[in-house]
Amino acid sequence: DKPMEKERNRLFQINRESAYFFYRNLMNNTDARKYLYKRSISDTTINLFKLGFAPKSWDSLEKYLKSKGYKEYEIEKSGLIIKRKDKSGYYDEFRNRIIFPIYDRKNRIIGFGGRVIDDSQPKYLNSPDSLIFSKGHNLFAANLLEKKSHNERIVLVEGYMDVVSLFNKGIFYAVASLGTALTKDQGKLLSKLGDNIYICYDGDEAGLKAADRAIDILKQEDIKAEVIVLADGKDPDDYIKSYGKEKFESLFENALDYIEYKIFFYERKYNLNDTEEKIAFTRDVGKFLKDVKSPIELDAYMEKISQRTGILKEAIKKEIFGYNLNIENKSIVNNRYINKKYKNNKDN
Ligand code: CTP
Ligand code: MN
Ligand code: MN
Ligand code: MN
Ligand code: MN
Repeated sequence: DKPMEKERNRLFQINRESAYFFYRNLMNNTDARKYLYKRSISDTTINLFKLGFAPKSWDSLEKYLKSKGYKEYEIEKSGLIIKRKDKSGYYDEFRNRIIFPIYDRKNRIIGFGGRVIDDSQPKYLNSPDSLIFSKGHNLFAANLLEKKSHNERIVLVEGYMDVVSLFNKGIFYAVASLGTALTKDQGKLLSKLGDNIYICYDGDEAGLKAADRAIDILKQEDIKAEVIVLADGKDPDDYIKSYGKEKFESLFENALDYIEYKIFFYERKYNLNDTEEKIAFTRDVGKFLKDVKSPIELDAYMEKISQRTGILKEAIKKEIFGYNLNIENKSIVNNRYINKKYKNNKDN
């Protein structure tokens, strides 16, 4: 409806004006720019993302926006200023931070992320959800993709800096979820943006767990994705800075599909030389085979588990699908269903 639309547009304007303010501050602040240069981010990349800097001040953004005619109550709705506890006025949410404007696919600024330039905490701050910003419905940098849909390849990373760093090195197909676990809606958006989806989260324990959750979410939505695991706890930014674009792109060849990732993920928790643990591992990973609809894939996956454990494929199959089930038939039926579904999806 009309009044709501007006209010939303006002928020877009406030964000646009603020991004300009932050950008100009970055241009005038040597320390902030040095921070980005130290992280190998070029001016071209700064300009592409319209990165900025929020000065070390409690009210400089508020003053600036007021000078442009915006009212406190409007600015508050953007989350850029916050009411003081004693209600004696407001303070700027982002202070002394590098600013990452977050755009929607129509190139409107819907929110901001901010990173400290020292070791203080919290490392990142994000705009709160608002009338125009919903974290779970957007992906950072989706606006910068070459095409608005069906890019050949999309890589999903954890952080703003990962995306910025990848673009900086010529990887123009990276997006990030916005400081939350991947949502179904973000999954759907991913599948619209690109045909081959790769998850490349941080190689630390948190990243591996997040990737495991992400592939489950995507699986539930019938979205195919593969996972790239970075060694030594590195994140994509660390990796591309150490090894370069070519090596990063070669990681895609060995990306793990759903079951491969499950095997990798569970394998780390079990000692496969121990019979009991080997059995538990096989059951754990075997559970995920139930979702595999293609008989060829199923066989290839069982082969993998069998190779890892020495347990015969036939035994794995019987354990998971039961003794009397004719899986060949079941799989063919499922497979037809999938093909039909796939065709329908392609058509619309
Ligand atoms: N994040 C957050 N709040 C935090 C830490 C992280 O919202 N206190 C979100 C941010 O969106 C961040 C992402 O999680 O971009 C990934 O976090 P992390 O891996 O810790 O940060 P990096 O992207 O590696 O950041 P940097 O390289 O700048 O340290
Ligand atoms: Mn991380
Ligand atoms: Mn990092
Ligand atoms: Mn990281
Ligand atoms: Mn593969």
